[in-house]
Order: sequence, then C-alpha cells, then structure tokens
Amino acid sequence: MKIRHVVESQQFTVPLLLQLFERTRMMEHIVRRGGTRDYERYIMGTLFYRPSTRTRFSFESAMYRLGGRVLSTEQAREFSSEVEGEQLEDTIRIIGHYCDVIVLRHHEEGGAKRAAAFSTVPVINAGDGEGGQHPTQALLDLYTIYNECKTLDGLSVALIGALDQGRTARSLAYLLGKFDRTKLYFIAPDEMQIKPDILEYLDKHNVSYECTSTADGILPHVDVVYQTRINRERLQKRDIDLTPYNIDGTVLASMKPDAIVMHPLPRSVEIDHAVDADPRAAYFRQTQNGLYLRMALLTMLLDNE
Ligand code: CP
Repeated sequence: MKIRHVVESQQFTVPLLLQLFERTRMMEHIVRRGGTRDYERYIMGTLFYRPSTRTRFSFESAMYRLGGRVLSTEQAREFSSEVEGEQLEDTIRIIGHYCDVIVLRHHEEGGAKRAAAFSTVPVINAGDGEGGQHPTQALLDLYTIYNECKTLDGLSVALIGALDQGRTARSLAYLLGKFDRTKLYFIAPDEMQIKPDILEYLDKHNVSYECTSTADGILPHVDVVYQTRINRERLQKRDIDLTPYNIDGTVLASMKPDAIVMHPLPRSVEIDHAVDADPRAAYFRQTQNGLYLRMALLTMLLDNE
C-alpha cells in the first residue's frame, strides 16, 4: 500500500506501519555511518505557520542526512506572502514548483488536508490547528513504544493532560487502536477530555477505553504513560488545576518496573525533572527516534514519486 500525502494517522495500516518501522531501523544504521547521498537530487520545503523545535529541526536534519537540501520558512505567518493575503492553496502550488516534498505546520485545523488537495508534491502534516492531528509525532511515538515494549499488541496506555487539544494524543490514539487488545485510558479534567471523534473511531473498531478525570489506581497497571503538554494561558483562563495529573517521583515509584513515560515535548511542569534520570523516562529517546522515523518517511514518500 502506498500513500502520497501524510495528513492523518488513520491513513496508516498495520502492514504499512511495520514497513515504515523496518525502514526506520535501517535509518538508525545509516545515521551511525554518517548519512547517505542517495536523495541528493531532492529538495524539501518546510513551511511552518506555528513555532516548532523538534519537528522542524528533525525533518531538516533528516533531509540533510539523506543527502537532500532544504528550503525553509520558520515563521510563515510573518515571512510568507500570507502577510499580503495569499491563500494557503496558492502558496502550496507555488512551493511545489521549487520543492519535491512539503512539510507543513498550519495554524488552522484541516490546513494540511487543504494543502494536500492542491499540491503537486507530497505534503506532510507537521501539526494542524489546536485540536487537529500531528501524525508524524504519533508515528515516532508508536515506533518508540515498539522499541521499548517489544510489541504493539495487548498494551495498556494512559494518555494524560489537556487531551481535547492534544494533537499528538489524538493521532496516537488512532494508531494504537489498530493493534490487538489495546486498552486506552484517557485521563483529563472533564473540560479537557478527548473529543468524541476519537471515541467514535475506537467504538467502531472495538477498541477498549476508559475516560476518567483521575489517574488514581490506573498508572500502576499500564505499560505506557503518555503525558501531554499543558497550555498555561488556557489554564489561567479556565482556572483548572492540572497538578494532580503531573508525573513526579511518587507517581513513578507506583509504576511497573518495565513501564515507560513518554511526552511529545516541550514540557512545562507536567513531568518533574527528577523523573529524567529514571530509565523508564523515554521522552528523550522519543525525540531521537523522530529523526530516524522522519528520514524513513521522507524516503518512503520520495521513492513513490
Ligand atoms: N513535539 C513537537 O511537535 O514539538 P515541536 O512543537 O517543538 O515541533
């Protein structure tokens, strides 16, 4: 099965995921050997309308390590012709003349889908809107889980935080739902609980889940704790205390010895820095996997062209 644009997690089948992960493993070896020149004829455009550290840097590093080149605008709302009123559709058409693949972070939900509909080259969604998706983050998250837990079947995963606007948690829930005997716990204040579109998808695919406002009694039993970001401004506006959802040494002590703690980063206060030294803290390994996974994804899309 081939895909042209990467817009949402639902596009990936289990065989395609496993194929991508095999390629990702190969990229780890390629990076250790100093990279390759195999993709030197390709140019990647990174068009970011919202700030990013990990996604943009890892995509650009991925392209350079494949031998390709990069054209970039890191603050497209200020430094692209959007300032003059240009529509995304036109911008994408034009960049398609200069680049072979476009990585897009757009401030509106559905931005990547709109771009893909008009693009002559593959478009990769690097995060859309506040409550859209971030499929490449979910792919690297799933690869990390596969590496650390050695399986993707029968896993219990707790997703914690402001889940209604958690693009990464949303995309990951779709992917985890594709595997056998997955059990998902959505742990969030009622006001920030995961949105119904995800639950409808899980119901349709007979995936077991629970939505709860408290982590009590859950974290000691799960294989993966997936903590997500907390938007401080939103917190102040809505006066919601998220402290009980944070991960610290006490929470860690209650967890299984082989469970892992993940976070898409950047973090704020939701994971105590004391947790970093514990081998179960997988979030920095996660960011490193982002490089390999994005190299694999770029080669997969460019090989299809
Ligand atoms: N995880 C993630 O998307 O990080 P950035 O916003 O830094 O890209």
